[in-house]
Amino acid sequence: MMPERKIRIGVLFGGRSAEHEVSLVSAASIINALDTSKYDVIPIGITPEGRWLSAANALALLKEKSGVDNLPEHLIVPDPRRQGLLGIHNASSSNVENQAEGMEVKPLDVVFPVLHGTYGEDGTIQGLLELADVAYVGAGVLGSAVGMDKVIQKQLLENAGISIAPYSFFLMNEFEANEKDMINSIEKKLHYPCFVKPAHTGSSVGISKAHGRKELIAAVQLASQYDRKILVEKSIERAREIECSVLGNDEPVASVPGEIISSNEFYDYDAKYVDGKSTAIIPAKFSKAVTKKIQQIAASAFTILDCAGMARVDFLVQRNGEKIYLNEINTIPGFTSISMYPKLWEASGVKYSDLLDRLVQLALERHAEKQTLKTTFKPKNEWYR
Ligand SMILES: Nc1ncnc2c1ncn2[C@@H]1O[C@H](COP(=O)(O)OP(=O)(O)O)[C@@H](O)[C@H]1O
Ligand SMILES: [Mg+2]
Repeated sequence: MMPERKIRIGVLFGGRSAEHEVSLVSAASIINALDTSKYDVIPIGITPEGRWLSAANALALLKEKSGVDNLPEHLIVPDPRRQGLLGIHNASSSNVENQAEGMEVKPLDVVFPVLHGTYGEDGTIQGLLELADVAYVGAGVLGSAVGMDKVIQKQLLENAGISIAPYSFFLMNEFEANEKDMINSIEKKLHYPCFVKPAHTGSSVGISKAHGRKELIAAVQLASQYDRKILVEKSIERAREIECSVLGNDEPVASVPGEIISSNEFYDYDAKYVDGKSTAIIPAKFSKAVTKKIQQIAASAFTILDCAGMARVDFLVQRNGEKIYLNEINTIPGFTSISMYPKLWEASGVKYSDLLDRLVQLALERHAEKQTLKTTFKPKNEWYR
């Protein structure tokens, strides 16, 4: 499966997302930890505006984060014959050394999209990589899109009998046309406090906890800045925040669960990244039976939601595990060396660099398997004659 020469791995980071910065931190850890005796690492950075840079120019995005406007661009193009990065001549660049003469292709064996949120974790990049016929780490188009849409995700989980918090959802046009009725029905079904979320978001961006009607209206206004589809959930009170890492393709395995002790009333952006006061307990303290139950739910959710490679499955657990609600799945979880996804694997016996090797291997396996499927069909008779 693995080629004799080094594996050329493109590490894709940044991007047009509210989680751009988080991605840079994850990518720096991954680039650092990839074993250079096995991999040729090609950093590929996407600016917040969506410009693609590679190699040293991408590293400039990682370090300086600005001043990259005039650097030459490198793109993955949807052409399976190129399977790599195409350098494009940038006439406005003053950096002659980096200018490609015409077109230059850098082949890639595999891409690790270390992109969180929109245009990275949502199936769009995965679609491009499918078209380009390049192997990539993590869920495919459907699993990524489902993982990114909290409403569709809940509908699928509910349908499979997995316990989730009671919820409602609406499009902003319905809410605007019918605000009073909508609020009444939310209050009747979900009560306060409740959580209001843009359907497609991550890192708690645009999410609020509403304790009354005034806060509910403000929360909907905030969420509507990020999405036209809004999810409202009953708050699972006094719940423990539990995360479980899943690894594999068609036979996924789950790590030990971990518990987050959030520094705020809920695990918001500040508690996640800014104040540095949230802590983790790994493994989470549960009976063996509850631990096993959480692992089983995590692995089956991974399959139900059509994930591949990796995912982190998050839970809200009440009363020592009597009530386990699946909160959400993250198909490209935070990946710094102190992020939960790799830490949970480390506690389960898989080192950070071994985890990267395993993810690359899973990506190559899935890609190779797909190559064996037919994409043509020969009917007995040619119908168009
Ligand atoms: N129904 C809920 N009950 C209690 N807490 C919740 C609920 N939904 C979300 N939270 C809190 O809000 C945080 C962020 O919500 P989440 O759906 O995980 O969004 P994100 O995708 O941005 O991480 C959770 O980690 C949890 O602390
Ligand atoms: Mg979350």
